[in-house]
Amino acid sequence: SVPVPNVQELIKEDPLQVPQRYVREPEDRPNDTDMSHLSSLVPVIDFSLLLMGNKEELNKLDLACQDWGFFQVINHGVAKEVLQKMKDAAAEFFELPLEEKNKIVMPSNDIQGYGHAYVVSDEQILDWSDALILVVHPSHYRKLKFWPNSPKGIQEIIEEYSNAIRKLGTELLESISLIMGMEKEALLGLHKQLIQAYRVNYYPPCSKPDQVIGVSPHSDTSTITILMQDDGVCGLQLKHNNEWVPVNPIPDALVVNVGDVIEMWSNGKYKSIEHRAVANDNKARVSYASFLFPHDEVEIEPLKHMIHPKTKQQVYKRVKYGDYLRNSMNRKMEGKAHTQMA
Ligand code: SIN
Ligand code: FE2
Repeated sequence: SVPVPNVQELIKEDPLQVPQRYVREPEDRPNDTDMSHLSSLVPVIDFSLLLMGNKEELNKLDLACQDWGFFQVINHGVAKEVLQKMKDAAAEFFELPLEEKNKIVMPSNDIQGYGHAYVVSDEQILDWSDALILVVHPSHYRKLKFWPNSPKGIQEIIEEYSNAIRKLGTELLESISLIMGMEKEALLGLHKQLIQAYRVNYYPPCSKPDQVIGVSPHSDTSTITILMQDDGVCGLQLKHNNEWVPVNPIPDALVVNVGDVIEMWSNGKYKSIEHRAVANDNKARVSYASFLFPHDEVEIEPLKHMIHPKTKQQVYKRVKYGDYLRNSMNRKMEGKAHTQMA
C-alpha cells in the first residue's frame, strides 16, 4: 500500500477539515435521505434454530443468501462478554497515541498491521477510516510483529473472540452446505485449510459525512464474513435492487455476508453483495470483520451439482484462490467483483 495520512489524527488537528483527497465525485456520495426504514428488510436468522436443523429456518437462510447475500444472526451462541471485551479492547487501542499504534504500522509490502490497505495510487480518493488487519488462524500463519501489545491482554482477547467467531462460522458453513444439497461437512472440507483474517475498522466522525465514504463499495473475497458492529452506531450499507440499504445494528446480533467464494461455488445462486460503510458527523464508529476463506492452493470453481443440468452453464472460470485474492488486492477496491465469468 501507498502510505496515507491517518484519519483519526487529521480530525484531531482540525475536526472540520476534509481534505480534497477524501471528497467523492457527486455520483459516489452517500445519499442524505434517511433510508433506515429499509434496514428492517434485511433477513434475521435465528442460529439456534439452524443448529437444530429446523427446516423453516434453513429455508430462510437459503432465501437470504439468494436474495440479499446478507443476514443478521441472533442467538448465535457467542457470549456477550466475549463481544464486549473485544469492543472495549479495540476502543482502547484506537485511543492510543499514534506513535504507539505505529509500532505495528502496516508496511507497503504487506496488508497486516495498523494502517490503510488497498491504497494503490497517489491519485486514489481515500476512505474515511483507519484499520487494524491481522491473520489470526491457523496460528502458524500469524505475524505477531503486527499484533498490538497495548492495551494489556488485547492479544488474548482477539484470540478468544476469533475462536468463538470461527466456531460460529464453521457451523454456519454446515448449514450452508445443507441448503446447497450437500453433507454438512462438505464446504469446510473444500477449504483444505480454513484461514481466518480479522479487520477492525475505525471511522472517525466527519464534519461532511455526505461527501466522503468510510469504506469504498466492494464485495468480500472471503467464503463468508462475520461482522460485529458497535451498538447504536450505523454505517454499513448493502446494495439491493440498486438501492443502498443500511444494515443497522441489532443489539447483540452479528452480521453475516456471503463472500465471492460461495458465489463461485454456488455458480451464482448465492450472491456476494456489494457493500460500503459511510461516516457519521457526530460519532466515531468501530466495526469488527472476521473473514473465513480457503487455503491459497484451492482451485475454486462452480460445484458440479450447482450447474443447471439443462443449460449446463458454468458462470465462473476455475481460479486458484491465492491468485484470485492477490489479483483483487492489487487493484483499487471498487465496486463488485472481479469474479471471472467463464
Ligand atoms: C467492510 O465491509 O469492509 C466494512 C463494513 C463495516 O464497517 O460495517
Ligand atoms: Fe466488506
